[in-house]
Amino acid sequence: MTDLGFSVPDLTPMAGGIEFNARPEQIMNASLHLKTPLRILMRLARFKATSFSALEKKITALDWKLHLPVNGCPDIRVTAKKSRLYHSGAVAQRIQTTILKQLGIRTGLKADRNADHTLFVRADHDAFTLSLDTTGAPFFKRGIKTELTPAPLRESIASAMLTWAGFSKDDILIDPMCGSGTFSIEAALSHTGTPPGYYRSFAFETLPGFSQKTWQHLKRQAAETRFLPSHPTIFASDADAGAITAIKENIKNRDFARLIDIRHTDFFTIHPDQISSRGKKGLIALNPPYGKRLKHDTRQRDFYRDLRNKLRSDFKGWRLAIILPAPDDLKQLDLKLKSHPIFHGGVEAVAGIGVI
Ligand SMILES: C[S@@+](CC[C@H](N)C(=O)[O-])C[C@H]1O[C@@H](n2cnc3c(N)ncnc32)[C@H](O)[C@@H]1O
Repeated sequence: MTDLGFSVPDLTPMAGGIEFNARPEQIMNASLHLKTPLRILMRLARFKATSFSALEKKITALDWKLHLPVNGCPDIRVTAKKSRLYHSGAVAQRIQTTILKQLGIRTGLKADRNADHTLFVRADHDAFTLSLDTTGAPFFKRGIKTELTPAPLRESIASAMLTWAGFSKDDILIDPMCGSGTFSIEAALSHTGTPPGYYRSFAFETLPGFSQKTWQHLKRQAAETRFLPSHPTIFASDADAGAITAIKENIKNRDFARLIDIRHTDFFTIHPDQISSRGKKGLIALNPPYGKRLKHDTRQRDFYRDLRNKLRSDFKGWRLAIILPAPDDLKQLDLKLKSHPIFHGGVEAVAGIGVI
């Protein structure tokens, strides 16, 4: 965020996010460039309410035409904690009816999880916070991948792991269990200077007051600094033919496709000399299959042993970024890696970053 011009004193870290003040143009720019957040919410109101009539009064006092298009029926997601109004369904319904009445929309429309707009409502000890989602589909959906393979990695996590591993424009990336290609695509965006939000649309594009001109200007500015290397710098492979079809499909119409060399091969047969003829060492990114985890699962132990032996014998001096289910798995791998806890769509995992 500081790269985007925000200053540290204006950024307030809080549980699960950062609070900041921004103009609409800064929200657009942050949406275009930030790689790891889930979404940007715009705070609309904070108030106390202990009864439905008080809640309705507060909702009516807000000018919803400023915040929502008049033809939309927002999805309202309520979480209530230690509050007199604790029934989240009833709170959502009351808020929605009140907003729709003000917007002049016939009541009785059903809230739709696929609605263009989502209003997040949090009630905590009777204190309500209303926040409008400006993002739409979460940021990790880059609008690039259409084909998924089992257990895809979130783009935000792949991107964070590349950053932790110090991945730079001069680095080669080997992504030898590429699946649908998440590491490779994030690396290609990074190598070409393509912002992660470049290929997708956002909820803010349909909000009142949205400036198409400003948005196009920001995208043009980003396009001007893109750079397309002429030869592959990213080497993606997988043992599974379905994964190879998926990654090819995911990048087929993209100009960065020529950066990614794709091969259908088993990781244990790869040697970096086949890839980097000048002996240049780079980064190897791994998201191995988790498998069904059983206590004393010897197959899993053997797999980690084979992985360690392969990495030590053929990739000495390369940097490694690997994601595994738990710190214990990282211990079993027995390589000197810095461990980063990760929360992956409700599941805890751990990333190990270091030099082999
Ligand atoms: C958890 S998935 C990777 C998902 C990927 N990061 C994504 O976002 O789509 C693990 C992948 O490792 C591949 N794999 C497993 N063992 C392999 C091996 N020995 N060599 C190459 N690929 C392997 C599987 O086919 C699968 O695609």
